Amino acid sequence: MIFFNGNYVEQAHAEITDRGYQFGDGIYEVVRVYNGQLYTAQEHFERLLRSAAEIQMDAKYSVEEYIEICRQLIEKNQIEMGNIYIQVTRGVAPRNHPFPIPSVEPTILLYAYASARPEKGLKEGVKTITAEDIRWLRCDIKSLNLLGNVLNKQKAVEHGATEAIQIRDGIVTEGASSNVFAIKDGTVYTHPANHLILNGITRLEIKKVCASLNIPFVEEAFESSFLFECDEVFISSTSLEVTPVIQIDDTMISNGTPGKVTQAIQDGFVANIGIQ
Ligand code: PDD
Repeated sequence: MIFFNGNYVEQAHAEITDRGYQFGDGIYEVVRVYNGQLYTAQEHFERLLRSAAEIQMDAKYSVEEYIEICRQLIEKNQIEMGNIYIQVTRGVAPRNHPFPIPSVEPTILLYAYASARPEKGLKEGVKTITAEDIRWLRCDIKSLNLLGNVLNKQKAVEHGATEAIQIRDGIVTEGASSNVFAIKDGTVYTHPANHLILNGITRLEIKKVCASLNIPFVEEAFESSFLFECDEVFISSTSLEVTPVIQIDDTMISNGTPGKVTQAIQDGFVANIGIQ
């Protein structure tokens, strides 16, 4: 069962003139489900409403209403371990760049699906590549326009890697679908939450874990060369959680095994989600 424009239905189809389909004029979120329970849903829906406001779009429902729809989807689809995908577009209107006048109802889609934790990568770490960040300058909006991300992720896959670490003007911004962290002498460094990155919900949870473990967490831009001089690197996202990076391009990171500080942060993160 999926939720589409106010109804729980078995199937739905996009209209060809949906602005999400024709312009990428919409936003999305991915929320994790652990043990049949939503994880950090409040934060995800606050970010969804922020993304909507930033593109002057009405996402129609409140945070509480979105959370209730998610609960219904978990129950109707019997999801134990999985994700909920949420997408809101500006709606259906004849193709014309400016917003439709009069305005139309947004197209609202939510669906839940089972998805296991990426156990192997979490335990053994993953390989990554570096790639030029060619995206637009409002990466803080979780927009449906993901072409820059898609092209870099594809490049990663073609190199047998899990993620592409994106670099803009020599500075590490974030992964194609994750945030990036470097650790040097026990301090965690990551790009500040401005227009050049998505302020990941997992990133914010990691910040809290670091505070509780007395690990300094510094939100400062760093150059790509630092990736190869630091002690450890990890990436984070709703699905990747805290995933150690053991290789970047042809260089091994922390001798090709997950680093100690990364593991401590990973343990703290997992303890907070209450699994295992
Ligand atoms: N991606 N940066 C980018 C560009 C992302 O696409 C994501 C998430 C993140 C991490 O955000 P969070 O911790 O809130 O998931 C950072 C999602 C999972 C996706 O597109 O599937």
